[in-house]
Amino acid sequence: MKVLGIMGSPRIGGNSDVLLDRALAGAEAAGATLEKIILCKKKISGCLACEKCNETGVCAIDDDMPEIHQKILAADAVIHSVPVYFWSMTAQMKAYLDRWCALFDAQWRWHKAYWPRMKGKRIGLITVCGDSDVSTADPIVHSFRNTCQFTGLTWLGAVQASASAKGEIAGNEAALQEAYELGQKAAATTEEA
Ligand SMILES: Cc1cc2nc3c(=O)[nH]c(=O)nc-3n(C[C@H](O)[C@H](O)[C@H](O)COP(=O)(O)O)c2cc1C
Repeated sequence: MKVLGIMGSPRIGGNSDVLLDRALAGAEAAGATLEKIILCKKKISGCLACEKCNETGVCAIDDDMPEIHQKILAADAVIHSVPVYFWSMTAQMKAYLDRWCALFDAQWRWHKAYWPRMKGKRIGLITVCGDSDVSTADPIVHSFRNTCQFTGLTWLGAVQASASAKGEIAGNEAALQEAYELGQKAAATTEEA
């Protein structure tokens, strides 16, 4: 069981990072092997909508995203963690998500090369916002949950937390526990999930 963590905040050691690490600790305790990618350390351009990938399944942009595609394909579950920036996700996370485009064909079905590996993949999300009302992050949840529903992936759910200062979330036991449980769920066998 492989669980991949995708960290979408440019603030390394910040709230999204702390919660993702808790989720990955939960996954590891449940027997998963882990990999974590910090998006701001990678070169990821925006999708060009060139549609070359529709045929080949391979993105035409020469940056770090094709390597991340391979890691997504190899994982059983992917947990994303991202703060709210202007009622939306960070630019790093949006560029990453748009580049999922390369995994589809022209009809927005999984590219035939990838469907066997995308089938049943489990997707989780962690959001952090400065607002005390965690529903501020609902547009991000909508984006990830709809992507899963539209493409037939398994939605593990979202942990939505509130914090402002760097690392402040470390004092929020409830959010840490929720993140840990999301990680455990990600690592559960299909029957348990
Ligand atoms: C550019 C920017 C825009 C932000 N926009 C919002 C916002 O629209 N709503 C909100 O509740 N918090 C907003 N925040 C606050 C962050 O979501 C909050 O500080 C969060 O804890 C950061 O998470 P991190 O430590 O993982 O980077 C914004 C922060 C930055 C830097």
